[in-house]
Parts: sequence; C-alpha cells; structure tokens
Amino acid sequence: MSTQAFVFDAYGTLFDVHSAAARHSAAIGERWQVLSDIWRTKQLEYTWVRSLAGQRATFWQVTQEALDFAIAASGGLDAALRDKLLAAYRELDAYPEVPGVLGSLRAQGAKVAILSNGDPAMLADAVRSAGVGDLFDAVLSVEPAGMFKPAPRVYELATSCFDLPPRNISFQSSNRWDIAGAKAYGFSTVWINRGGRPDEYPDLAADTVLEDLRGLIA
Ligand code: LAC
Repeated sequence: MSTQAFVFDAYGTLFDVHSAAARHSAAIGERWQVLSDIWRTKQLEYTWVRSLAGQRATFWQVTQEALDFAIAASGGLDAALRDKLLAAYRELDAYPEVPGVLGSLRAQGAKVAILSNGDPAMLADAVRSAGVGDLFDAVLSVEPAGMFKPAPRVYELATSCFDLPPRNISFQSSNRWDIAGAKAYGFSTVWINRGGRPDEYPDLAADTVLEDLRGLIA
C-alpha cells in the first residue's frame, strides 16, 4: 500500500479556528476562549443537524449562526465586534508548520489537497490569506455533496478527484469525529491531536496519531 495523495481537513487542522477570537481577545475580554469554544462546538453541531435532517445549509451560514449563539450564551457583544470576528474567520492563521510540510510532501511527488466543510469562497479566502494557495493540487469543498462531514459521499469527493482508492489516500484531521468518518470510508487516517485530547471512537481508530503535521515528513 502506498500513499499517493495527502488530503487535509481545513479548520482546526491547517487553520487555527481560535485565532479569530484570539485576535480580538482584548476587546472581548477574558471570556474570549469560552466564546470561541462555544462558537466552534455549535458550528459543528449545526452541520450535523442539517446533514441528518436532510436540510441544505452553507458552512458560512452555520458559522454565523454559531457565532450569534456563542455571543448570546456568553453575555453579548456589540455588533461591530461580531462583524470583526466574522471577518477574522475568513483570514484565520495557518499553523506555523503548514507551508513547510505541504511543500515537502509535494516535493516528494505526492498530491496535496484540502477536503473541508468550508464553502468554496471561504476556503479561497483562507488559503489566500495564509499564503498557501500554491501548495494544493485541489481545494475541495463539501458543497457539491450537498451535506457535511462525516457523510461518506463527502469523502468520495477526494477519491473521485484523484481517481484513487481510499486506501491510497492519507487523510489528516485534528477533529477526531472527522477521522472516524474518514476511517469508516476507508482512508488511511492520521489524527492530528494538537490538544493532547483523549482518544474516542475505538471502533474507528486512527491509523496514526501525531501532535502536529511535522510528523508526516519525519
Ligand atoms: C472542516 C471542518 C470540519 O474543515 O473543520 O471540514
């Protein structure tokens, strides 16, 4: 078995979802991390509910709805700061090792792609603002699948794109539930456990666990 393509989750894996609130932490105050955690948790919950209920939604829509809930649940924020947080979410920080690791994988001859819940326009903004646009063979949004991860038809977008069987694709995500879905689909899976979190989904174990992306080229 050989890996011919490396496919990456975007939010949390390549881009730090908490960098938006961190950038405005002085204005938000010390509850900024709580607000950011609620924002992320609700954003993901809203994707799962839409997928299971058979309702279409865009990731940008659920990102806004989740921020509004997080603001309400954490004591309110003024409207201008809400808009600044959303603007920051379009230009999240990439983790520092991202450009070097992706460049090395491509230099080794592997295909490199993103497969993300993000809308195409969100992903275009993210890769442009992080300066990593040239490092991808494909930036795949779930949008054509009409639902969000971890639906199998979403992971199929990557196998179709590269015309490869799932086992020849290495899928990297910091989201353990995303790794569970990718494993069920048949990808070779790498859980990027940035936060040192306990493992989950014992029936859908990751093939490899790394602290960050650097281990992909070690
Ligand atoms: C993504 C979310 C799951 O980028 O982080 O698909």
